[in-house]
Amino acid sequence: MATVLSVSGSPSASSRTNRLLRHLDARLAAQGHEVLPLDVRTIPAEALLGADFRHPAIVEATALLARADGVVIGTPVYKAAYSGVLKALLDLLPQYALTGKTVLPLATGGTTAHVLAIDYALRPVLSSMGARHIVQGWFTLDQDITVGENGSLAVAPGAAEALNQVLDQFSEALGRTPVLAAAG
Ligand SMILES: Cc1cc2nc3c(=O)[nH]c(=O)nc-3n(C[C@H](O)[C@H](O)[C@H](O)COP(=O)(O)O)c2cc1C
Repeated sequence: MATVLSVSGSPSASSRTNRLLRHLDARLAAQGHEVLPLDVRTIPAEALLGADFRHPAIVEATALLARADGVVIGTPVYKAAYSGVLKALLDLLPQYALTGKTVLPLATGGTTAHVLAIDYALRPVLSSMGARHIVQGWFTLDQDITVGENGSLAVAPGAAEALNQVLDQFSEALGRTPVLAAAG
């Protein structure tokens, strides 16, 4: 099937967004996709804050993205937009790094007042990077995500159903996208 880069854009060590993405990765993998997880918080701060395009971690992230047919981008909503560390990474990727890729934008947040942050904040950035096929995204309230002491993840039924739906739409869209020959 397809190769999917799953980018978690939270700086938090106990990130709900991260846990949610890794949970969804398993569903994509079960559907036959190869999933490449990328947690922005693992990229050294000096690379992100110093705009070090040649840092090995940035070179590796760029290479992972080049391999991918599809990209899941998950971010916490911070100050009514996406996270700063996610923007720092996106700024260091090639201008048209998302050309030809199918993209699923996801967000977690504390209030439904910012449910549209994906559409007014993240989506335009993804478009500017060449993404022409950005499927319907989803905003999940943080209170609907429960991480157990053993690390288990539970998502409130309504939210889980909606997430599965957008994930399956993404998966179907990947199936329709001709898999581009691996760029050299
Ligand atoms: C610095 C900061 C700013 C936040 N700003 C918002 C906000 O503007 N709107 C919102 O809905 N939630 C906001 N939140 C809540 C987070 O988006 C929410 O708890 C999210 O699930 C955190 O994800 P994480 O655990 O992956 O970092 C903010 C949280 C933090 C720490």
